[in-house]
Amino acid sequence: MSNRPIILGIVGDSAAGKTTLTRGIAKILGEEDVTVICTDDYHRYDRKQRAEMKISALAPECNYVDIMEQHFRLLRDGQPILKPIYNHSTGGFDAPEYIEPRKYVILEGLLGYSTRAARDSFDVKAYLAPPESLRASWKIKRDTGKRGYTEEQVREQLKMREFDSEAYIRPQRQWSDMIVSFYPPEEGSGQNDLLLNVRLTLRPTIPHPNLTEILNPEGSHLGEAIRLDLERDMGKPVDVLEIDGHATKEQVVELEHILCNEVPYLGQFCSLQGNEDIGKLVGTTGETLQSYPLALTQLMLTYHMLKAA
Ligand code: G6P
Repeated sequence: MSNRPIILGIVGDSAAGKTTLTRGIAKILGEEDVTVICTDDYHRYDRKQRAEMKISALAPECNYVDIMEQHFRLLRDGQPILKPIYNHSTGGFDAPEYIEPRKYVILEGLLGYSTRAARDSFDVKAYLAPPESLRASWKIKRDTGKRGYTEEQVREQLKMREFDSEAYIRPQRQWSDMIVSFYPPEEGSGQNDLLLNVRLTLRPTIPHPNLTEILNPEGSHLGEAIRLDLERDMGKPVDVLEIDGHATKEQVVELEHILCNEVPYLGQFCSLQGNEDIGKLVGTTGETLQSYPLALTQLMLTYHMLKAA
């Protein structure tokens, strides 16, 4: 067991699902043992200054990347930091906060893997890559609901930021250990988050659970809903694990068994236990729903953190 904090990165573009993914992982690890930091806090300029300068928060020069790197390193070494706070309601900065890292640290944000020094601090690196149409609908939902923007303003921002997304955010995919892509089962099949499938691209940069049972599903219930393929991502060989939104509980439990056999602690969070804290989504009328693909993604990432510990 390592005596320094274990660091997980959740990097992706604006409204790619970083917070939803993070929440379930923190629940599994036990919130009292987890420090969650959003790297939006390292923005260099406030909202007004960015508008005047006509630059987006996605550009590295718009962030204190050097301080972010330094703080990542300190956290990895178990040292406290004095972290700035970007306030999403006001678009300005609040007084900084003193943070002592707990056993597990989740660093989520836009530019976590943009430099070598920043990348070197992570034990596990996830990158979120939903299709752009899905990300746009998530961003509209969040920014109109929680951040006071109109739909037109959000669409306009997406357009204005496209250059920076392509130049600075998407290239970080190459540095991740696992790429997480939620996607609708059929092109244009609308946006019901509950029905989304997930595609997990697993790079051989960290040891993944032994999933060969899935390749040879005889005698298992996995069937068509959970699949494993060998593919290439950005030219490099990867394993791709697909989990359909309509996977049944029986099929999900079988995959969970594979994870729990290696990391028994995870057993108590499996769907067998009816644990709805993981894979939790809030429906359109505020009701709580559980997505198996989301739950399994959260379990997989927690598995990796526990393995790294
Ligand atoms: C994107 C990111 C935010 C970031 C923001 C800044 O939307 O997802 O997390 O902080 O840009 O822009 P704002 O709307 O706060 O001016």
